Amino acid sequence: RIYPVILSGGSGTRLWPLSQPHKPKQFVPVVTDRSMIQETILRVAGQSEFLAPIIVSGESQSHLVVEQLAGIGIEPAAVLLEPAARNTAAAVAIAAHWIVTHDADALMMVMPSDHVITDLDSLYAAVRSAAQAAQAGCLVTFGIQPTHPETGYGYIERGDALADVANVHHVANFHEKPPLPLATSYFEGGQHYWNGGMFLFSARNYLSALQDHAPQVAAASAEAMDKAAVDGVTVRPQAAAFMAGPDISIDHAVMEKATNAAVVPVDMGWSDVGSWDALWAICARDEQDNGVNGDGFVIDGAGNLVYVSDGPPVAALGVRDCVIVSTAEGILVAPRDRSQDVKKIVDHLKRRG
Ligand code: GDD
Ligand code: MG
Repeated sequence: RIYPVILSGGSGTRLWPLSQPHKPKQFVPVVTDRSMIQETILRVAGQSEFLAPIIVSGESQSHLVVEQLAGIGIEPAAVLLEPAARNTAAAVAIAAHWIVTHDADALMMVMPSDHVITDLDSLYAAVRSAAQAAQAGCLVTFGIQPTHPETGYGYIERGDALADVANVHHVANFHEKPPLPLATSYFEGGQHYWNGGMFLFSARNYLSALQDHAPQVAAASAEAMDKAAVDGVTVRPQAAAFMAGPDISIDHAVMEKATNAAVVPVDMGWSDVGSWDALWAICARDEQDNGVNGDGFVIDGAGNLVYVSDGPPVAALGVRDCVIVSTAEGILVAPRDRSQDVKKIVDHLKRRG
């Protein structure tokens, strides 16, 4: 029995103007006709090993979560609403608390709400291996073969194979978002995977690792859930207790420190679609490497992403390696290799008010 735990708290600023503060990217159809959170939920819905999903999201996004679930006819096991974001260690902790009080031995699979996975059979095979390792007490990560020295990911050094479970290795070392020189040496060394951002473990084991490595997060989330307000499937952890906890990711708080971490290498067409460049990399492209989505075209140009959604049509002439995005909220024009800096635009707009 595995509860899918869908994390939906990020703001996705690098996909501005498609992703907006009042409607972050996971609630928007980016790659398919469905939103990314709907795709994530449907990836596991109906698979026999999975129970109904648990969604962890901010109070301010609760109406979006309800609307997205209704849109695909999914009844969640629970919707946990954080009063304010305290990062993923806490978000996963409150889900783990909910699970242990309902089903003490259940496993949980933590899934970001904003990833693309194209090869589902490979995902399911990896989940079966991971579930065995999780039953045996491991905190399991999913290892993606790196394609370049990206600094925005966690790096997992593969250790010895697990004795009893095929395709699973101990984690020799976990390094969250290393600086470029280290990312480069990890990439070139060939012993590291990217952390895919999904985790599979028993709720109980996560809470005990949290107790060992991040006791303040453990205490805050336990108290917040003890005093939670429950309204049907909607659960609101008590605000004062929850917000007293530190803001730290599961990667820094637990995975870098745990001694029982394991990794399942998996090739599943994974992309975290974190930026326009990442979207260009996975979209269909013509012979000149232009990717065009919606009402737009490119003449005498190459390597561009033209993305039109509810905005004026785009005609690009003679430009190379650019991102041009047109939505009802705004128009973005930037060199593709500046995609990571799009968040500066969002900061600028915020300051401007
Ligand atoms: N509910 C909730 N509350 N969700 C959150 C919160 C929060 O406070 N903070 C982040 N999330 C959600 C995001 O929406 C996303 O779906 C997921 O948790 C991961 O958070 P990100 O902020 O996107 O993390 P990241 O991309 O910087 O890094 C993580 O993912 C990488 C792979 O994409 C790490 O796990 C890296 O190690 C990993 O390589
Ligand atoms: Mg991410």
